[in-house]
Amino acid sequence: MTISLSVFLIEMKNAINSALKNAAMKKLVGGNWKMNCTMKTFQFFENTPLQAPSDVDVFIAVPYVYTGKFAEYFGSNVKMAAQDVSMFAAGAYTGEVSAKMLSELGFEYVLVGHSERRTVFSESDESINKKLKMILETNMRPVLCIGEPASERSSKRHIDFLSVQFAASTREITNASFDVAYEPIWAIGTGRSASTAEIEEVLNTLKSLMSKQELSGRVIYGGSVSKSNAGELSKIECCDGFLVGNGSLGEDFQGIIDAGSEAKPK
Ligand code: PGA
Repeated sequence: MTISLSVFLIEMKNAINSALKNAAMKKLVGGNWKMNCTMKTFQFFENTPLQAPSDVDVFIAVPYVYTGKFAEYFGSNVKMAAQDVSMFAAGAYTGEVSAKMLSELGFEYVLVGHSERRTVFSESDESINKKLKMILETNMRPVLCIGEPASERSSKRHIDFLSVQFAASTREITNASFDVAYEPIWAIGTGRSASTAEIEEVLNTLKSLMSKQELSGRVIYGGSVSKSNAGELSKIECCDGFLVGNGSLGEDFQGIIDAGSEAKPK
């Protein structure tokens, strides 16, 4: 009886802590420039500086080679994110960039497990899990990406698929804080965003999986988010922000950021 009361109290404390952590968090709107930017993209934002509303964290995930340029072209209101990281800490791994290197050079967020890494570069849940652990050992914040292919969605197995992918990517990680981006593969770069109901179902599932594992953080949506649908998508209560590919490369990005803000009139 005493044991079950103390277990209950510990669970209550954890639930309150995680609710407090989440409540204190701003919305998150990240741009993913993939391998699509050039110096012209930087110059565009130099001429049209991005504004981050007080209630939105904004980042841009740039290719590593632009690391030195980022601070020249962006103010401190836009955080620098990496698109990937090595699963190794250090050593003879030609072409790789470690989490420690990224953190030394001022990166604040790191995408991990983007579907293009998983599909085009055959990254496994196991390597993504290692990368996530590497980032969590630094002061940078991981954004774990997960998403189902069209076949899992059309056969209605998407929730099982995503639950397995989430569990494998976060294996042995508990009591940690990071953000999760739900990005259905069929919605990325297709101009066909998931619907409000589809997003709600998955984000609520992710929130409950995270809290069961004592994980806290924001749960955001990505996949053809544009200036024209961001207003509607930002009404989704459980959606803490967006991860944006094409829409982050030019003038639409500011509109998407503003849509993610409660403070800005829509
Ligand atoms: P998209 O890409 O906005 O161009 O669909 C999203 C992403 O891959 O993060």
